[in-house]
Amino acid sequence: VPISNIRNFCIIAHIDHGKSTLADKLLQITGTVQKREMKEQFLDNMDLERERGITIKLQAARMRYILNNEPYCLNLIDTPGHVDFSYEVSRSLAACEGALLVVDASQGVEAQTLANVYLALENNLEIIPVLNKIDLPGAEPDRAAKEIEEIIGLDCSDAIHCSAKEGIGITEILNAIVTRIPPPKDTAGGPLRALIFDSYYDPYRGVIVYFRVVDGTVKKGDRIYFMASGKDYIADEIGVLSPYQLQVNELYAGEVGYLSASIRSVADARVGDTITHYGRKAESSLPGYAEATPMVFCGLFPVDADQFPELRDALEKLQLNDAALKFEPETSSAMGFGFRCGFLGLLHMEIVQERLEREYNLNLITTAPSVVYRVNCVDDEIVECSNPSLLPEPGKRRSIEEPYVKIEILTPKEYIGSLMELGQDRRGVFKEMNYITENRASIIYELPLAEMVGDFFDQLKSRSKGYASMEYSLIGYRESDLVKLDIQINGELVEPLSTIVHKDKAYSVGRALTQKLKELIPRQMFKVPIQACIGSKVIASESLSAIRKDVLSKCYGGDITRKKKLLKKQAEGKKRMKAIGKVDVPQEAFMAVLRLE
Ligand code: GTP
Repeated sequence: VPISNIRNFCIIAHIDHGKSTLADKLLQITGTVQKREMKEQFLDNMDLERERGITIKLQAARMRYILNNEPYCLNLIDTPGHVDFSYEVSRSLAACEGALLVVDASQGVEAQTLANVYLALENNLEIIPVLNKIDLPGAEPDRAAKEIEEIIGLDCSDAIHCSAKEGIGITEILNAIVTRIPPPKDTAGGPLRALIFDSYYDPYRGVIVYFRVVDGTVKKGDRIYFMASGKDYIADEIGVLSPYQLQVNELYAGEVGYLSASIRSVADARVGDTITHYGRKAESSLPGYAEATPMVFCGLFPVDADQFPELRDALEKLQLNDAALKFEPETSSAMGFGFRCGFLGLLHMEIVQERLEREYNLNLITTAPSVVYRVNCVDDEIVECSNPSLLPEPGKRRSIEEPYVKIEILTPKEYIGSLMELGQDRRGVFKEMNYITENRASIIYELPLAEMVGDFFDQLKSRSKGYASMEYSLIGYRESDLVKLDIQINGELVEPLSTIVHKDKAYSVGRALTQKLKELIPRQMFKVPIQACIGSKVIASESLSAIRKDVLSKCYGGDITRKKKLLKKQAEGKKRMKAIGKVDVPQEAFMAVLRLE
């Protein structure tokens, strides 16, 4: 089709508002995939994603659609739905001219929707509001439309009422994509510039790069050059996504497709990079490229020291497909050999941990996540510290800075009080509160990222009965009065339990943490003191009393199956334990600091 008949669009939605269901319906109605080919939801094709019901990786699909006897080519570019991946979202938006804004008509506008709409507006996209789930008895499309108008300032007079599930309003959406979203600009004559909006590692073909040609054309066999990574390759396969990969010879400005070029790692063809021709380089790369900066770090240690090489191999393999994952070896006298790993956020961290355990069969101990502190030392050196146990000694440091985030919470008004308490409790600085509608408010806080790592989101959800949503962005470093809190178990310093806390909270955290550890660490044959210290000063202390009785004595004389069951239960409980000196410490103890309330 001519470029004037191409439309590139994406779908913006809050989690669970129906993005994947709608995408699937669009693919079905345009005959792109048959119903029986669809494995539940086509666009979310990673197992983990389907299980968690979230979109992690972006994908794309090309659809054919005929309106008034004109054939159109509609490229849908999927976006991930989590704030950890907002950079990826911004790059896929940059590859489009328009966006469907899907809002669940029974829920209304949520924080995540807002953040992504702002990203779309920054990229000058034409936004088509879609009010989804109108089949639900609780749906109030008019109210949702009013919210969109009031909060976002977007005209909703021609918002589309739809039920992705029941297939209502799908044709209207397709027509709106054609009539309201502008076609790409025809810049096929210029030097090649293509924007990478996704890439993944295929063990047989190397990295598969998903891109949008912004200017120029790219042909099979071309020598291409990645402007950010500085690498060059021969494009040995080029194609479109239908949504299956379908080879073509050439792609022109405005088109969306994939290529493979024996690229060994996604780090060499990262999202946001610009592809140009090696022999005819574009003058400048496309705007918006950014390096991935890990925000949270944690230690990963194999329970069984023999698994260290396997853990390294697994991390290397995951990294081939995940340019944002960082890791380096870490040794601790308590834990042995492991890795310090950096992640974009907590969800990213959980995904990696889960994949390591599930796909690589590793049995790991994970230490509590930490943010990156910036320590100004007396010798004027600035030390970046992502591992509390490595914080420079008090005598060496002048001050410590920590990362702050700005968070925006959207909540029904009845939970405002309870959520503001949460913000206050987490060292938040209240910025503003506005009623966005009669019943809902937006609350803005600035608070230390460290206070958000952990159970902040769970707290937000439980204090608002699940109704509040939030969004955050990093706003920079600020100086805080921080101290390192160490934990000694049975007289031994357990480095992975060290944590950095605000001075005013040190005593209460110390007390709560020793109490929690006492609950979590199983009793031993001897008495075990558990102490929290700042430097050499003990600020809280508990002790675990000795156990002498044989665990089997309880069912002594009882039947053998019960005895076996008990032994098995114990063996399972043992799996996730790390022997620290003479004491077995379970996985939960390493995370205890995150759940002190
Ligand atoms: P993420 O992938 O996490 O971003 O979620 P999503 O926005 O893709 O939502 P998804 O399509 O997975 O839908 C979430 C839930 O809402 C699923 O249980 C869907 O079956 C349901 N759902 C989606 N559209 C409709 C609809 O029109 N009506 C009703 N009743 N349910 C819907």
